[in-house]
Amino acid sequence: MPPRNHKDWSKTPKIEYISSLIYSEQSVYEQEIQNIFSKVWIPMCHSSEMPNFGDFRTTQIALKNVVAVRFENNVIRAFLTDKVRRPSGNDLSIGYHSGVWTELPCEVRHGGMVWTTLDQDNPMTVDQWTAGAFDCIADAIDAEEMEVFHYHKAIIDTNYKLWHDTNSEFYHDFMHYFNRVSGFNDEYFARKNIPFDNGHVNVSSFTVNYEEYDGFEDRGELSFPNLPPNQWYMVDLFPGFNFNLRGSAYRSDSVTPLGPNKVLIEFRGYGLKKDTPEERQTRIKHHNSIWGPFGRNLHEDLIGVAGQGTTMRPGTEPRNILHGRHENGTIHDEVGMRHYYGEWSKWMQVDASANCQLAV
Ligand SMILES: [Fe+2]
Repeated sequence: MPPRNHKDWSKTPKIEYISSLIYSEQSVYEQEIQNIFSKVWIPMCHSSEMPNFGDFRTTQIALKNVVAVRFENNVIRAFLTDKVRRPSGNDLSIGYHSGVWTELPCEVRHGGMVWTTLDQDNPMTVDQWTAGAFDCIADAIDAEEMEVFHYHKAIIDTNYKLWHDTNSEFYHDFMHYFNRVSGFNDEYFARKNIPFDNGHVNVSSFTVNYEEYDGFEDRGELSFPNLPPNQWYMVDLFPGFNFNLRGSAYRSDSVTPLGPNKVLIEFRGYGLKKDTPEERQTRIKHHNSIWGPFGRNLHEDLIGVAGQGTTMRPGTEPRNILHGRHENGTIHDEVGMRHYYGEWSKWMQVDASANCQLAV
């Protein structure tokens, strides 16, 4: 077959693809809020951000204000409320006792994350929802209590799904100079994308050669519990939460869609609660040198998705986005993308490739 240009691909892709309209249409965004974000379990914050009785932490899920509070006996509960405007604090008089809060299902699972859902009748537990996607890192993140040592957020003019995509497809890894230098070995290309029920995927580990990069050092000494030195696992959770364990530091990303072309992403970095001050300092350095706002990786992803967002703004020309590469589930196989958009299509009751004929 001769090489094909954009028009040829648009006409007859004949392989798996999705429509770019699902990244740009206001009606799609509104239906995602209603059909997906109002229904699924959301990892809203980490229990270490609210360590004491009466501590609270707020967020917004599907345009609703949600607060998580630590009560007696270290029980954390979540509520719908319009009464709390601060991101965090310690004050039970903010409205709970006036009875205006509506309680939501809440669980603390997978390394101390606080999970809640707006769906009072959610038929699943968190474990049923995550469906084994965390098994690969469970021994590392659940053996010891973790603590958030880093938080920052970014508001980017792009669709939230592009943040999922950048954590799921690995072509763009060639954009990361640090990864090219320290990671592109045989093990890297043999990594597997492993799909789980409910749209989740994890990416199996390989050994990162940190010392290949000038000024960086081996990270084996501070590996998380039960983790071989310098390993790197990723869990991509539907519909857009990412958990990333790079040996000595752990990171979580939470997305809050703000419109078809705007997303709030919250980044947290974690160490072990039992860290000595010196260990903690080293973990922070390891975390920030890769994932801090001035690190070797994270801002490159943000620039990437901002650029992709520019090409898919509302009103731009619709096109097909190909997810057709098959390589036995290895790192450049797009099985993770196909798995995610298959799940997305189920929740949205629309075929992601069908130019968005939404049932609205
Ligand atoms: Fe990346």
